[in-house]
Amino acid sequence: MNIAIIPGDGIGREVTAEAVKVLRTVQERFGKTLAFETLPWSADHFLQSGITIPANGYDLLRSFDAVFVGALGDPRVPDNRHARDILLGTRFELDLYVNYRPVRLLDERLCPLKGRGPADVNFAVFRENTEGLYVGVGGRFKAGTEDEVAIQEELNTYKGVHRIIRHAFEFARTRGLTKVCMADKSNAMTDGHALWQRVFKEVAARYPDIASTHYYIDALVMYMVLDPGQFQVIVTNNLFGDIVTDLGAAFQGGLGMAASGNIHPGRTSLFEPVHGSAPKFAGRNLANPIGAIASAALLLETRGWMDESAAIDAAILKAVHERQVTQDIGGTLGTSQAGDAIAAALPV
Ligand code: NAD
Ligand code: IPM
Ligand code: MN
Repeated sequence: MNIAIIPGDGIGREVTAEAVKVLRTVQERFGKTLAFETLPWSADHFLQSGITIPANGYDLLRSFDAVFVGALGDPRVPDNRHARDILLGTRFELDLYVNYRPVRLLDERLCPLKGRGPADVNFAVFRENTEGLYVGVGGRFKAGTEDEVAIQEELNTYKGVHRIIRHAFEFARTRGLTKVCMADKSNAMTDGHALWQRVFKEVAARYPDIASTHYYIDALVMYMVLDPGQFQVIVTNNLFGDIVTDLGAAFQGGLGMAASGNIHPGRTSLFEPVHGSAPKFAGRNLANPIGAIASAALLLETRGWMDESAAIDAAILKAVHERQVTQDIGGTLGTSQAGDAIAAALPV
């Protein structure tokens, strides 16, 4: 399997090194072959060359079996242009319409919700990843003046809404789950989100074995905090999915723990931790690599390497239980040592 590695910026580089370390160990232990090619696309690269992603960049990414990204974001690029081209651009150009973000608590000790344990926090969020408010339709008129007008449109298409909702139901069915919850804001967004309502009802009717529920997004976040155990699968739009998965990260012990896949089933897909480049932590060997390593496990799972993926998840769980982890989740290890601990916990 050929994997493109984009370490990116800040702690993205440090956590990516640990994810690659664990993948290399998996390769040795399981006698399988992985080939890595590191691409330099980052804020540094942009500031030096003026290039965010080269002209053939998306085609190049399509030539790999999978892509791994650390994080993109740097205070020296205040308009986030490079992240827009490298990260959002790849989501759009490779049509990675499924943003799969599992929310799974590994240890009760890590959950900020009183009295909640792993049995209460175990669900998947499916975030629509190719439209919504992220499409960059709009603009600014009379920018910088007191007459400034700023417009950014939300795009919802039948095709886009349908395929993410269907994916959420298919995921539930193949995993033997019984509930899917859709969240929108159709009481205020009476046009854009009416489409979500229509499509959700239409698709849900085709899955009579699965209970479908709907919450407005404001109520959803309230129920997530008060009663997370009711959720198995949540499906929502691009922006709401971005926001609720940082809340989901907090349930798991913080942003350092959360994994994600940007997926087009059957095509080259991109895996990355949910967190960003955390500039304040960068270069200090402090960042938690678990979100990145768990994202590497998702990559393998998506490519059908089930045993290898499960072995990484088990190694992460062992390191967490034995507190061989970074400071943000109560350990004393640095980023690199926490990666070593997980690599060492893989089956020999
Ligand atoms: P962030 O996720 O980078 O960090 C927020 C806070 O979360 C950090 O200060 C830290 O306390 C904690 N945190 C995050 N990752 C951690 C880790 N691995 N270990 C321990 N603690 C961790 O979010 P931000 O500060 O809002 O954004 C910083 C930059 O990253 C911005 O430029 C933003 O646009 C970018 N960003 C990129 C991505 C991505 O590439 N996918 C995602 C989110 C934010
Ligand atoms: C994420 C990030 C990105 C997003 C940013 C960096 C544009 O927050 O992947 O969650 O909003 O999608
Ligand atoms: Mn985010």
